[in-house]
Amino acid sequence: METIDVGLDIFEEINKLKNEKNAVILAHYYQDADIQDVADFIGDSLALAQQAAKTKADMIVFAGVHFMAETAKILNPTKKVVMPDLRAGCSLADSCPADKFEAFIKQHPNHVVISYINCSAEVKALTDIICTSSNAEKIINSVPKDKGIIFAPDKNLGAYLVKKTGRNMVLWNGACMVHEIFSLEKINHLRELNPKAKLIAHPECEEPILRIADYIGSTTALLKFTQEDNGNEYIVATETGILHQMMKSSPHKTFIPAPPNNSCACNDCPHMKLNTLEKLYNCMKFEKPELLMKPELMKAAEKPLRRMLELSSN
Ligand code: 13P
Ligand code: SF4
Repeated sequence: METIDVGLDIFEEINKLKNEKNAVILAHYYQDADIQDVADFIGDSLALAQQAAKTKADMIVFAGVHFMAETAKILNPTKKVVMPDLRAGCSLADSCPADKFEAFIKQHPNHVVISYINCSAEVKALTDIICTSSNAEKIINSVPKDKGIIFAPDKNLGAYLVKKTGRNMVLWNGACMVHEIFSLEKINHLRELNPKAKLIAHPECEEPILRIADYIGSTTALLKFTQEDNGNEYIVATETGILHQMMKSSPHKTFIPAPPNNSCACNDCPHMKLNTLEKLYNCMKFEKPELLMKPELMKAAEKPLRRMLELSSN
């Protein structure tokens, strides 16, 4: 990696590069605070896809993980998409290899295939409609009641949606390493110590955590809940990056990251956290690493993504 001059105002340099190159920085809420602060747009997976679909920038700088940058590229095949670190993957996307998923689909013929956006472009290409945690219920409800549904790759989100929608879906057995790490025992103990704190959780968490949560929602929904709710203390069961925006918009409130089941910082996504401000600066300056994809794959993966965007527009 290129080294950066000591004394360089990296925020100022990034802003200069944005203007010079007509670039837009799209960042997920799970990015480090300094990356969120320099981004043009911060959002959850759905908002980032919607933003990517309408950008007028020449270069998209994606501060997130690989499947998110792929989504931006699929929606903008002629634009340059760069990432601070191309190795930023996703354990959930990795839990669903395309060849195995294709065989799984064949075992369940005549089902509508709905895949969570956290999957590879190859899996998207095998899918009828993409969804995110923000719009999954709406997408599922758009499928006629007499049709069977395959839902992939997150089994926790899938089980939560089966309960919410009453649809009996066939679930792929995948999960996110970050959202499966929370300790029910430690959360219960924390609640005893902070009886006024509300537990808010992302639906990628396991069922025992969701069962005791006061509120469940996508990253954006959790943020909005903390802004509008009249409580003052929250135990947050999702990736820690979101706490930056929660604290920024409600500085008088207290946010406690939900404890993992061991002593590591496992509720930091190791993939998201591969991106740093220095890598962001370098990728803008040198316009690499660039995300490149095969045109046929982009075309096949675009269809279910566009279907999601159409269904989410009202
Ligand atoms: P959302 O951005 O849809 O809340 O998903 C969370 C996530 O795990 C992204 O990788
Ligand atoms: Fe993937 Fe989980 Fe990290 Fe999101 S938090 S990028 S789902 S590993």
